[in-house]
Amino acid sequence: MADIQAKLYLDREFTLGNTSPRLFGSFVEHLGRCVYGGLYEPGHSSSDELGFRKDVIELVRELGVTIVRYPGGNFVSGYNWEDGIGPVEKRPRRLELAWRSVETNHFGLNEFIQWSRRTGIEPLITINLGTRGIDAARSIVEYSNHPSGTYLSDLRIAHGYKEPHNIKLWCLGNEMDGPWQIGHKSAEDYGKLAVEAAKVMKWVDPSIELVVCGSSNPYMPTFPQWESTVLDITYDYVDYISLHIYLGNREDDTMNFLARVRDMDTYIGTVIATCDYVKAKKKSRKTIYLSFDEWNVWFHSRDKDKVIEPWAIAPPLLEDVYNFEDAMVVGDMLITLLNHSDRVKIACLAQLVNVIAPIMTENNGPAWRQTIYYPFMYTARYGKGNVLKPVIKSPTFNTKEFSDVPFVDASAVLSENGELALFLINKSMDSSIPLECTLYGFNKDLYVKKHILYSSSDPKAENTRDNAFNVLPKEIKDSCSITGNTLNVRLEPFSWNLIILSSR
Ligand code: AHR
Repeated sequence: MADIQAKLYLDREFTLGNTSPRLFGSFVEHLGRCVYGGLYEPGHSSSDELGFRKDVIELVRELGVTIVRYPGGNFVSGYNWEDGIGPVEKRPRRLELAWRSVETNHFGLNEFIQWSRRTGIEPLITINLGTRGIDAARSIVEYSNHPSGTYLSDLRIAHGYKEPHNIKLWCLGNEMDGPWQIGHKSAEDYGKLAVEAAKVMKWVDPSIELVVCGSSNPYMPTFPQWESTVLDITYDYVDYISLHIYLGNREDDTMNFLARVRDMDTYIGTVIATCDYVKAKKKSRKTIYLSFDEWNVWFHSRDKDKVIEPWAIAPPLLEDVYNFEDAMVVGDMLITLLNHSDRVKIACLAQLVNVIAPIMTENNGPAWRQTIYYPFMYTARYGKGNVLKPVIKSPTFNTKEFSDVPFVDASAVLSENGELALFLINKSMDSSIPLECTLYGFNKDLYVKKHILYSSSDPKAENTRDNAFNVLPKEIKDSCSITGNTLNVRLEPFSWNLIILSSR
């Protein structure tokens, strides 16, 4: 690398706005062992009287998750929400076609709401617009949110839930552009169904907010025309449009894998542009916000899943074991989300437990934190506040798919208590990079309160059941110096960093 130094310029006055608390969300699908054996395992030594694993609840709280999307995912497009309510012994067992499993329905809407309350997260419910439609859409809102005095609200009360669940946020289906989806539709057909479902859902409860389906990922052939067509039809009735992305490293090309985070950034930019194009066309004053309600690294388990026998109950599906380079990518994806927090108001790390997840469990055994857990935990903890616009000058690298990718990426969040959190990544595998950060508009008495360094000499190092603390972030001292309004720090090779600056 010729010019090895990186520079970051931040001004207290140049802000993107406050991060939405919903930016630090996750996702629970009836898939593999996410619900059964993950959230819910009656008889487990740590389970409470409802069968919720308290060890998992503790880890979810520590992770700092604020909102959880449920119950799918591909699962929802064949799901009858009514199968999961009422006395457990009367609930039907069904073939679950999306993941070729058997669904017992022992866990359903009411259990999820109870789990949400105990965990302290906001529920985000996805409705089925694959095999179901307008009628089921209005019914689930009435059952959940109407106080009393109608068949469905009284049914909820009869099921033991006197108070309405008051679910504020709903997704209008899942990945409806994907041919793999049960009830896959064209953009026109989906738009027409979504707008009618949205209309009646808001008639039942005008206080709810709705997420319409965008493309399943930016690599879909119909992207971004899908967004344009769907918004054309639904614009006045919806509040957010969804985005999903999963990054992978099947070719074992680490630098190219790291560079792929750029796809997430470009994707967000294109969706914003499409929303605003439709806004301009409609001469509307309303702005549509983005719900990045599935994002993560996912590739380790893809081949393994193919050999699992169908029609099992809660089989071990999509159990990616993450390594340190995956954590670097997740850390950089979080930086990307923070830097778009003026438009991305909801984001869900997919998923939460066992299925492409930061938290793993063993049935009847322990729970532990995967490598990707840590960047999420620190970003959720210190990423709440006003995001400053980062101006970065960094040496760059080229890969087989990308050119001029900066080695250093950064986001800066000013919290309510006046502390400034710097999220910094150095993607170089062999060089440390000195970073000079110039801070405008801050008091002269800034000092480094904390520096968390997350690095590993082995990019493939993992945390497993028997080696659960193999890769850990650590707090380091005396790594930075501040002179006047300039912070200097040497970013370790292949590292993710959190630096907290405070005033004396
Ligand atoms: O999260 C796993 C799957 O990925 C979800 O079910 C689906 O929505 C996406 O394709």
